Amino acid sequence: MHILITGGAGFIGSHVVRHFITAYPQYTVTNLDDLTYAGNLENLRDVEGSSNYRFVKGDITERDAMLSLFETERFDRVIHLAAESHVDRSIASPTEFVMTNVIGTVNLLNAARSLWKESFSGKLFYHVSTDEVYGALGSEGAFTEETPYDPHSPYSASKASSDHFVRAYHDTYGLPVVISNCSNNYGSYQFPEKLIPLFINNIRHNKPLPVYGKGENVRDWLWVVDHARAIDVICHNGKPGETYNIGGQNEWRNIELIRLLCGIMDRKLGRAEGESEKLITYVTDRAGHDFRYAIDSSKLQEELGWSPSLQFEEGLEKTVDWYLDNQDWLDHVTSGEYQRYYEKMYG
Ligand code: NAD
Ligand code: TYD
Repeated sequence: MHILITGGAGFIGSHVVRHFITAYPQYTVTNLDDLTYAGNLENLRDVEGSSNYRFVKGDITERDAMLSLFETERFDRVIHLAAESHVDRSIASPTEFVMTNVIGTVNLLNAARSLWKESFSGKLFYHVSTDEVYGALGSEGAFTEETPYDPHSPYSASKASSDHFVRAYHDTYGLPVVISNCSNNYGSYQFPEKLIPLFINNIRHNKPLPVYGKGENVRDWLWVVDHARAIDVICHNGKPGETYNIGGQNEWRNIELIRLLCGIMDRKLGRAEGESEKLITYVTDRAGHDFRYAIDSSKLQEELGWSPSLQFEEGLEKTVDWYLDNQDWLDHVTSGEYQRYYEKMYG
């Protein structure tokens, strides 16, 4: 089996690549990534020498390059993660999100359809999406696979659009597709623009912690390794045409999560209790900030037998340990040094 993983040099993609090349040594895994600011081959340093792994630098917005890559490599399955993924960046430059998330996805769908035109048997186009497509919840309830789409940010609107195209290719052309919509991930190798690694890095440097609004928004956090495990289960046992929600049943109000994180950091850095909390600074709220996300993942749990493996307090502590043990990684990412790694390795 030859699997294409797109966006494999990013945060979640690197965990998915690591998971597949170690769990399935009999598969060939090709990681296609354009190494944008969020793509970092240092995320895969521990596995890049594996004999069943290869990296291809390429841009999914380039239609002809995608058609010829698929024609040459003859992938059996695609797990598509490549995307622009940060809400704040989508507010600043929405068009890039349309290009990568919508046009890029359609290019891959066309390339898969063209390659697999003789027979769809054994083939799968797996599109990795987000719970943000469902919009915002009030204080009650959770998103199910039937919740109507109601995206509010340019990021979630672009992901919603790509989901619709994936379903349209299934309904119109019979392309075997599956979609999963996951809640917020946390763990190692996350680019420090997202809440948890940004705040770990700022606490390390005694810099302010910018809390949007009153810090009352709620997110449902899942350990990234559990997301990779869910993707494995869905890739192998998911039913074509279906959608699966993935989440940790682990809701946290931002400010409570930040206080927990500050407490862990105080302990790990040998600071007095309450020291890191002094860095909390309330700033203007994000425009269109969704109030609450919560995922009902009972379909995935009951039909495919997946469940999260880790409690959040334990996972957050492990995550802090990883960033403190890998401060070189954080320094490379924040200084831009990581962008030279490609030249050094593949130049
Ligand atoms: P990320 O930003 O860390 O990584 C994205 C990767 O895609 C990077 O390696 C980047 O170089 C690559 N990429 C971007 N544009 C490309 C292009 N034009 N061609 C080829 N490669 C390109 O993102 P992430 O947090 O790992 O998210 C991965 C996927 O999972 C995304 O589709 C995202 O919508 C989805 N998702 C993320 C979360 C989360 O909490 N981070 C939750 C649910 C779903
Ligand atoms: P983020 O990690 O950007 O993920 P998403 O917006 O996709 O949920 O943000 C998580 C939550 O933390 C979200 O409610 C916005 C908030 N937040 C801050 O308060 N300050 C920050 O500097 C960042 C990056 C996020």
